[in-house]
Amino acid sequence: MAQGLVTVAYIAASILFILALGGLSKQETARRGNVYGIVGMAIAIIATIAAPEVVSYGVLVPAMIIGAVIGGYVAKKVEMTGMPQLVAMLHSFVGLAAVLVGIASYIDPRSVFVGVEATIHEVEIFLGVFIGAITFTGSIIAFGKLDGRIDGKPLMLPFRHGLNAIAVLICLWLGYMFLGIPDHGGLWALLIMTVIAFAVGAHLVMGIGGADMPVVVSMLNSYSGWAAAATGFMLGNDLLIVTGALVGSSGAILSYIMCRAMNRHFVSVILGGFGTGGGSAAAVEGEAVPTSHDNVAEMLSEANEVIIIPGYGMAVAQAQSTVSEITKRLRAKNINVRFAIHPVAGRLPGHMNVLLAEAKVPYDIVLEMDEINEDFGHTDVVLVIGANDIVNPAAQEDPGSPIAGMPVLECWNARTVVVLKRSMATGYAGVDNPLFYKENTRMLFGDAKESLDTVLSKIES
Ligand code: TAP
Repeated sequence: MAQGLVTVAYIAASILFILALGGLSKQETARRGNVYGIVGMAIAIIATIAAPEVVSYGVLVPAMIIGAVIGGYVAKKVEMTGMPQLVAMLHSFVGLAAVLVGIASYIDPRSVFVGVEATIHEVEIFLGVFIGAITFTGSIIAFGKLDGRIDGKPLMLPFRHGLNAIAVLICLWLGYMFLGIPDHGGLWALLIMTVIAFAVGAHLVMGIGGADMPVVVSMLNSYSGWAAAATGFMLGNDLLIVTGALVGSSGAILSYIMCRAMNRHFVSVILGGFGTGGGSAAAVEGEAVPTSHDNVAEMLSEANEVIIIPGYGMAVAQAQSTVSEITKRLRAKNINVRFAIHPVAGRLPGHMNVLLAEAKVPYDIVLEMDEINEDFGHTDVVLVIGANDIVNPAAQEDPGSPIAGMPVLECWNARTVVVLKRSMATGYAGVDNPLFYKENTRMLFGDAKESLDTVLSKIES
């Protein structure tokens, strides 16, 4: 393919990626956004492998086939609840790719840069490898934390901010050395910096506690974008630069939105040590009152206003279609049913919206926290389905709580709150929840899907 045609294809792909991001910002257009993204990526891949400088098809084609088979298998197999781990793992690949491309492009004997151009190229390599290495180990630790293989508690090494600062200073010095050595002689500095950056990435994410993981996921998303953009500079590939910048900046904006939703300072989350164990939470006392399926069905049928709060447990139980069915049945009785979505409900940005859309719950009754939080006071019944941290009043009432200051859905202001979960266990942040012991709260124990199936069977249609 002629170079001009490749450039045209890259411009088309870039436009499609921008349209994809625009589409993904609303549920109604998300499907279309995904299609734009798929088409853009297909154009980008075809144009890249057909570019005049690409000649090693013997290696490229088998590698692509193997990658596509593994990717297709993993994507087909992954459960909705395992999506965040998968995303974290995929971010780690982008980071590793940036490291490998950076090192390869430094030792490439065909490198033709001289003078200022060579210096610029080496700065790109050093920065790209640095960001890539942090993204790689940070994402692996995030994967471990999201998957429950690594403890969610923040690792609080003594003098931890100092350690990070020293590591960054050493990297700056190594960068200075690296740029000063001609003829690929700076490889040692590049490699030592890579090892240090690996350690910094792991340490940064180890220092972030359970409740702040949403910010980490979006932050690593942003890092992976910048790593890809740096790779684009190294390879002189404009499309990679544009795509990396799109991912990097949208990830940064998402992280900022997440921080605002959780009432956290961006910088404090990145520096770590927040999220759990920051203070000492007050002991929760009282008795939780269990209820029965019959009672819940009766309460719902007699209500005028119902709000449903879905959480991670609804995703685990795959209860969304039963929830949708119950909603339909109650709405048919002229009961006003709405959904309250917390920005960090579940384990992925937009997790609950995706599940509800999949179950065909109408968009117009699915409301964000800020739109509905005032309405609990005049609500008859709130159904909390497998949610815990996002409805924890300790965030407002207990300054010592690790989730203190995080905005929560104030469902306890309703006449009755029914909480569906299997036990009295804590949620992701590992914090006890005083909501379960409030006078107007009733616990419906059991798997959310099974409980809701029974409740549905008892609501007359
Ligand atoms: P959680 O606080 O994690 O609570 C989920 C609850 O669901 C658990 O207490 C669990 O109790 C219950 N549950 C699990 N399986 C169930 C089943 N099959 N049936 C019924 N209940 C079940 O969830 P949340 O309220 O949605 O809050 C989200 C948390 O995840 C926040 O701390 C947030 O910071 C964190 N987080 C979010 C994200 C994003 S981006 N959204 C990413 C990473 C982490 P039982 O075990 O007793 O059933």
